[in-house]
Amino acid sequence: MLSKKDMNTKIWLSSPHMGGGEQKYVQEAFDTNWVAPLGPNVNGFEVDLKSYLKEDIHVAALSSGTAALHLALIILGIGPGDEVICQSMTFSASANPIAYLGATPVFIDSEKDTWNMCPKQLLIAIEDRIAKGKKPKAILPVHLYGMPAKMDEILAIAEDE
Ligand SMILES: Cc1ncc(COP(=O)(O)O)c(C=O)c1O
Repeated sequence: MLSKKDMNTKIWLSSPHMGGGEQKYVQEAFDTNWVAPLGPNVNGFEVDLKSYLKEDIHVAALSSGTAALHLALIILGIGPGDEVICQSMTFSASANPIAYLGATPVFIDSEKDTWNMCPKQLLIAIEDRIAKGKKPKAILPVHLYGMPAKMDEILAIAEDE
């Protein structure tokens, strides 16, 4: 148990945030027996998100971030023997879905401004892998702790290579 002093000085890593309605909706799911497979709230969330994005896309709510990354890699056709670039400073869920598909994660170090994927190291790694006959199939950056990665530079490298 943390002392009051520790509670005040410790910087918490994404401690849970509750908006106030969570217990009501958990109770509603039990009361209406919409515990599985989905139900009106999940369907409604998907419809609302699609309308918010105002794009001609399909929205699918998943049970976790890991599942979303896993599905994204499947949709990209990642499979055994492929290499996928991710960053070294992240949660293991960046690399796990790559491994689930039999692919190999290639870890890129951070740069000092955002602590996310370093575009310079990314370019070096891609050129190295291409020189060795193994062009990476995807780049999986992370906006760790909500800090945006240098996406303009990362996307420019992805376009060029
Ligand atoms: C950077 C990052 N990616 C992915 C995940 C996976 O999310 P989930 O726990 O919802 O599977 C986490 C979870 O903490 C994370 O920190």
